[in-house]
Amino acid sequence: MTAKLNARGDVAVLVPAAGAGLRLGPGGPKALRLLAGEPLLVHAVRRVAASPSVRLIVVAAPTAEIEAVRALLAPVAPVTVVAGGAERQESVSRALAVVPPEVGIVLVHDAARALTPPAVIESVAAAVRAGHPAVIPVLPVVDTIKEVTPDETVLGTVDRSVLRSVQTPQGFRHSVLAEAHAAAADPLTDDAGLVEKAGLPVTCVPGSDLSMKITRPLDLILAEALLHLPQ
Ligand code: CTP
Ligand code: MG
Repeated sequence: MTAKLNARGDVAVLVPAAGAGLRLGPGGPKALRLLAGEPLLVHAVRRVAASPSVRLIVVAAPTAEIEAVRALLAPVAPVTVVAGGAERQESVSRALAVVPPEVGIVLVHDAARALTPPAVIESVAAAVRAGHPAVIPVLPVVDTIKEVTPDETVLGTVDRSVLRSVQTPQGFRHSVLAEAHAAAADPLTDDAGLVEKAGLPVTCVPGSDLSMKITRPLDLILAEALLHLPQ
């Protein structure tokens, strides 16, 4: 059944889905690769559409797949599909460009984090609504982290307690994200990093193990197992 978005919601969610998925190995753009018989993008958009504050979903698709993505998502939820760019940041900028100014909160989510629970999407939006200009979902770092030289000699051990792994969706006041992207100079910085560079505080909320980024072949196997957990 096609989800209905909340016409009075205050949140737009941008879903960059234009990457090649090179680390996943041969088989086409990652967002269109199948997990339990459905493309990753369908899993991701279904969960975004189930978040009650969401009024608008904008997907940045691979240029060659725009019509295919529109057809694929039509039965899932009402979405706007735009052409992605060569870098993720450009895909995000192109999606951001179609969000009307009256939508106050913009979340940037990865199609590759296909199993992110709606509750995380809502909690990021709620923290922005509560007054934080930028909000990221995070998890504690579990491994011991070493700093090394270029020849792989250990320089020292980093204090793990002050480190966090960062997930998506990252949430922003609309104007904050728009200004950060307008000023962006480094294509490798994530959306929150652009806001940090502008000198604004970025606030952490709890992420979820289900929000893992599907990157390598092993991640597809793990994601398939996670799908079978009670959600
Ligand atoms: N993405 C995008 N446009 C790009 C590059 C990435 O919209 N030019 C999106 C991807 O589709 C993905 C998200 O950004 O949903 C996170 O990127 P990543 O996990 O690196 O995906 P890919 O770039 O597709 O994978 P890889 O780096 O292995 O090629
Ligand atoms: Mg990539």
